[in-house]
Amino acid sequence: MTLPITFLHLTDLHISAPERGDETLNGDTLAALDAAIDRIAGMDFPPAFVAISGDLTHRGDPESYRLLAGRLERIAAPKVLALGNHDARGPFRAEILGQEGEAPFVHDGVIGGVHVIVLDTMVPGRIGGALDAAQFAHLAAALDAQAGLPKIVVMHHPPAVDPDSDLIWHSLNPADTARLAEMIRGRVAGILCGHVHVPRVSHWHGVPVVVGNGLHDLIDPLTREGMRIMDATGFGLCTLRESGLTVEFVQLPHAGREVTRLSAETVRGFR
Ligand SMILES: [Fe+2]
Repeated sequence: MTLPITFLHLTDLHISAPERGDETLNGDTLAALDAAIDRIAGMDFPPAFVAISGDLTHRGDPESYRLLAGRLERIAAPKVLALGNHDARGPFRAEILGQEGEAPFVHDGVIGGVHVIVLDTMVPGRIGGALDAAQFAHLAAALDAQAGLPKIVVMHHPPAVDPDSDLIWHSLNPADTARLAEMIRGRVAGILCGHVHVPRVSHWHGVPVVVGNGLHDLIDPLTREGMRIMDATGFGLCTLRESGLTVEFVQLPHAGREVTRLSAETVRGFR
């Protein structure tokens, strides 16, 4: 396949099996995923693939991964999955991949003429993200492979576009962000992320870093004192051309209401 190609970017599904009755969910994430799947099924041009950049489940439990597996079967296009801080590697591998083990889920491959590189930024027990030496080694090898093909990186935590922020849980840590910047500058067509629950594009060292709204909730970007959480969800339609990456943000139906607020003290206490 040659450029341009189109693909989708979903993120932060936060699927939770209904029998868990999880009261920390800020919306009906299963309904949001179903709405997204219906929109995707109704597309009159098939996406080359669907990248899902982590927080596949809300609690990382086997039941929720099994529920997710059934939903993913309803998406005809190839799926490219990444893990986020709400995921758990063991149950993910067991229920989605049919594998044992707790190793970071790092992989890459050519799909639709694009070299897609998936990193695993989750740190068990933490909200913020990091990359270990093995992942940087995998990334270095992947960047040297498939010469001539455009590269897209998928990772849950976005790089720290503001390394001086005191909200260290908001992103990949500053040291790993700096190392990543040195490696990817001029070498990738885009980085697809989630975690922040806000549709956001950063021009970062010449690379577009795209954060999807996700399918859980929306953190109101117009409120910086604490955190105002709203009910909006959505996903991205990506088109990669010779000239670069375009992302169109698809909103799902929502009321535009505030779901809850977290105090500044609570937000600063996250790690
Ligand atoms: Fe999330």
